[in-house]
Amino acid sequence: MSAGLASSMAAALDPTVFARGLGFDPEPWQERLLRSTESRALVLCSRQVGKTTTTAYRALHTALYCPGRDVLVISPTQRQSDELLHRVASLYRGMREMPRLKRSNASEMGLANGSRIVSLPGSEGGIRGFAGVRLLIVDEASRVDDDVFASALPMVASDGQVIALSTPWGRRGWFFELHEETANGWERHKVTVFESRQWPERRIAEAKAALGSFVFASDYLCEFGDTDSQMFSTESVRAAFAPGVQPLEVI
Ligand SMILES: Nc1ncnc2c1ncn2[C@@H]1O[C@H](COP(=O)(O)OP(=O)(O)O)[C@@H](O)[C@H]1O
Ligand SMILES: [Mg+2]
Repeated sequence: MSAGLASSMAAALDPTVFARGLGFDPEPWQERLLRSTESRALVLCSRQVGKTTTTAYRALHTALYCPGRDVLVISPTQRQSDELLHRVASLYRGMREMPRLKRSNASEMGLANGSRIVSLPGSEGGIRGFAGVRLLIVDEASRVDDDVFASALPMVASDGQVIALSTPWGRRGWFFELHEETANGWERHKVTVFESRQWPERRIAEAKAALGSFVFASDYLCEFGDTDSQMFSTESVRAAFAPGVQPLEVI
């Protein structure tokens, strides 16, 4: 077998080889997620650790190597879903031999092999009309409404995968409930800020000082806040923290 053929077979079989070939150096958790073959994966993550980047590689790999199949991206807004598709499009442009595209716009990339990657809004009406989906990515999943997730799930084929990624957003909604349930068939990944190379200690300390411990625990340590005994909701606490305002010193 020629070296070229062997390396393209390796890339087809292993998304981490594919991603490395495009210049990505995945962290251990990113490797695990790229390689996961579980049909359902919940990824509880700190902010800015590389959720969107990792799933962009995964989306492109699936579209290239599963011909004629659909990859759907859902997030709370069309703009956020389009952002993931935009990342996919830039990865695609970085490929040495770019496969032909049938169509490409802000919310759809159609490959000549019949696969499509489609970005959708987080509204129930916006996601109708798909079936047999090979990969469903739900980005910022804790903010995607229950009815949207409930409508999207049956669109996934029996050999399809669902990857739901998010920082927590209080103790509510399907993402939280799936996370709390035991043995429900969802593979779990958790990546706090301390497990990410994207976050050197100095940056972590800055984030903690700017946000206060409640928001930091949720957005960076991946803890679901809001307990029954809590006086203020997650939203009220978040609203109380304006970026750039230094906390008062108690003397
Ligand atoms: N393995 C990696 N190597 C280098 N940069 C990375 C890696 N993973 C993520 N990044 C960078 O980290 C930043 C945040 O990534 P992003 O995917 O937007 O995070 P999230 O979706 O978790 O907020 C981006 O600039 C991205 O390029
Ligand atoms: Mg993101």
